[in-house]
Amino acid sequence: MITALAGAQWGDEGKGKIIDIMAAEADVVVRATGGNNAGHTVVSGGKTYKLHLVPSGILYDGTICCIGPGCVVDPLSLIKEMDEVNANGTSLNGLRIDYRAHIVMPYHLVIDELSELAKGAGDIGTTKKGIGPCYMDKAERVGIRFYDLIHPELFADKLRAALENKKKYIVGMFGESAYAERAALLDYDTILASYTAAADRLKQYAADTAVIVYEANESGKNVLFEGAQGTLLDLDMGTYPYVTSSHPVTGGFCVSGGVGPTLINRCIGIAKCYTTRVGKGPFPTELFDETGDFIREAGAEYGVTTGRARRCGWLDLVILRYAVRVNGLTGIALNKLDTLTGLKEIKACVGYDIDGKTVRDFPADIHELEKCTPVYKSFAGWSEDITKAEKLSDLPAAAINYLAFIQKEIGCKIMLVGVGPDRKQSFPVDGVEI
Ligand code: GDP
Ligand code: IMO
Ligand code: MG
Repeated sequence: MITALAGAQWGDEGKGKIIDIMAAEADVVVRATGGNNAGHTVVSGGKTYKLHLVPSGILYDGTICCIGPGCVVDPLSLIKEMDEVNANGTSLNGLRIDYRAHIVMPYHLVIDELSELAKGAGDIGTTKKGIGPCYMDKAERVGIRFYDLIHPELFADKLRAALENKKKYIVGMFGESAYAERAALLDYDTILASYTAAADRLKQYAADTAVIVYEANESGKNVLFEGAQGTLLDLDMGTYPYVTSSHPVTGGFCVSGGVGPTLINRCIGIAKCYTTRVGKGPFPTELFDETGDFIREAGAEYGVTTGRARRCGWLDLVILRYAVRVNGLTGIALNKLDTLTGLKEIKACVGYDIDGKTVRDFPADIHELEKCTPVYKSFAGWSEDITKAEKLSDLPAAAINYLAFIQKEIGCKIMLVGVGPDRKQSFPVDGVEI
């Protein structure tokens, strides 16, 4: 059985929590896209784990956790993360890294920073982890892969060639002084030494993870694909150019995880009961008032990777309908219902108004999206503490009413509701109807 879990909004939907919960029944958990731009939180037994590239199944002993072919790996940052995970007493024996994963190099970090600076007010607001530049090299077919990293002679040659090219690129694009100021970060011997030491540590985890997934599925085991980022950050289907450089939609697991589409049995979307976004780009339901501040504080909406305050707004059902469609969702998990507790009125966007016409499908281009004004439906809020709810009937009628409306509007069954950050603060449901 293969289950795909994808973010249904702009990331940070609480994927880490849901994956950790579902990983209790999984034999293999696979990240297939993105890198340490992701920040996935798992709260268990009073401890908070912040994972960036290590799959969120790692807390279970014996679960195989794969960093798949489409991921980009910053080896130095990965080792730091592995040490943090290990310091909490968690075993890393189950970790596997695909030979095909591309390596984030120091020049990718430099180029990410300089490109954002050069864009000025038009910057994307990237995480500055070198993700975009690393995927650029992959597309240009000059990248360094995990296989190269763990073969010292291949790595030394590729590094030398890459540094010569990147010097020309950085000087040409950003000027002589931009390069000179960062030259120490791009020194051949220094990078060779630190990356070779990292390779020595990581090579024991090398694997063809596509084979692991295939064989696990063939032998009746459970495989979970762990989405990173979210549908609207997808390079093709997101709010381009304010997107990441990979494919966080469920189809991305096929292309970047090496699994054929017919082998995926379930596609589950993960969303919050409102909307957030980090970085730049259009966001129709964004709130700039005290309600937005209330949601940010109540939901602790600050980035796990960069610490940036997240932009907050009402739930956008145009976005969720889009996520249902482009991910082929068979179910949706809705997190952070508890964050809305205390609001007298809750709103959900049911469509967009463009020049007097109501649009229900998410626009293909941000220039159209920028013309959109949300059309809202209003709901009564609730004030009861719901953080201990264990089943649907523990929720106030107003909360059930809100969930039932969401399900009807998006045409996809709610299969889990989150009422707090802890692993235990979610409960399964088999749809919500009234
Ligand atoms: P991810 O990137 O999708 O894994 O999400 P993040 O970890 O970046 O952000 C989600 C945040 O919400 C984390 O701080 C989680 O601990 C927290 N969280 C997840 N589910 C719930 C929930 O149902 N209620 C509350 N209050 N917090 C939650
Ligand atoms: P998780 O997995 C939220 C955003 C960045 C920026 C854009 C491009 O935790 O949900 P990048 O560094 O990828 O080139 O940045 O994408 N972004 C995320 N936003 N959650 C994430 O991951 C994100 N990963 C990237 O803020 O707007
Ligand atoms: Mg996150």
